[in-house]
Amino acid sequence: MSAALSFPVEQRSDPRSDAERETILANPGFGKTFTDHMVLATWSSDEGWHDGKITAYGPLSLDPSAAVLHYAQEIFEGMKAYRHADGSIWTFRPEANAARFQRSARRLALPALPEDDFLASLKALVAVDQAWVPSGEAGEMSLYLRPFMFASEAFLGVRPAARVTYCVIASPAGPYFSSGLKPVSIWLSSDYVRAAPGGTGAAKCGGNYAASLAAQVEAGENGCEQVAFLDGLEHRWVEELGGMNLFFVYSDGRLVTPELTGTILEGVTRGSILELAKELGHTVEERRISIDEWRDGVASGEISEVFACGTAAVVTPLGRLAWDGGEMLIGDHSVDDGVGATTAAIRQRLLDIQYGRTEDTHGWLTRLV
Ligand code: COI
Repeated sequence: MSAALSFPVEQRSDPRSDAERETILANPGFGKTFTDHMVLATWSSDEGWHDGKITAYGPLSLDPSAAVLHYAQEIFEGMKAYRHADGSIWTFRPEANAARFQRSARRLALPALPEDDFLASLKALVAVDQAWVPSGEAGEMSLYLRPFMFASEAFLGVRPAARVTYCVIASPAGPYFSSGLKPVSIWLSSDYVRAAPGGTGAAKCGGNYAASLAAQVEAGENGCEQVAFLDGLEHRWVEELGGMNLFFVYSDGRLVTPELTGTILEGVTRGSILELAKELGHTVEERRISIDEWRDGVASGEISEVFACGTAAVVTPLGRLAWDGGEMLIGDHSVDDGVGATTAAIRQRLLDIQYGRTEDTHGWLTRLV
């Protein structure tokens, strides 16, 4: 599909001052503050994609009957822009996000955005807001990019919208978890499932995340930070955390991650780790893993580390698994920070590539500025 859009810049008349921006960049947290501009484009059934632009970041005007507000016809992506030591700005495997955005669009009956337009929109936004990309040297800082698309047609009938809005916002980001790199505790949900076969589990759509929130509340009520979901048919097979994929490290060096069955998200970080782990000498397996295998493996020591991964949280170790009626500690608690050696090595390798500290032998980086 060839490119359909251009993104002329409407410069904001009241950008934040250098001092205001530097204050935000000094301690951005995650997803709390946004840059001066955003991308907008419109699709309609009669005109196709049109009216691409970079404009001032600000509230969108939406008719109360806009279909997304009623039927959740919406998809999104999560990416990061990384500043390298020489000042250049890069992103990681954007073609994979662009392709997934198209797959998600197909599942949610939204129009496909050509890959070239997806990438051009990111380049245009980061070029105009490049001062908002934090220095990568100070910890895990980046500019988090959030492309999304939603049904903006004012119509209450249930059918694919004839008018759709594409938008990209950008948010300076530190670590996803405010506690920094520390093992997180996981609640195993037995009442709730995130996705079922034939559903939208493999699409990156807001509805999947909405469906995970009650389970997330339950996790909090049980003293846990995140929730793990099992499959919707047998309630036996480990799927994902809702916002992150899972990896199990075996004491013999194997790495196992749940296979893609259509009900879990095909994470770009997940796919990258499968390749990096092999290069680091691990055998990798994509297959079903049952909750019994998880619990028995941790109990026997056969599973030595478990970690979650995603663009936002990179690689995050799991430290405790709790469920209705029990709990267990995971991993090596003799190490100071609770981050196992394999988890730490994979995390480091990935970050070194993203921040340009090691050679990008896979061609995973695309220069934005
Ligand atoms: C990401 O890792 O980018 C995600 O999309 C997870 C979450 C912040 C929704």
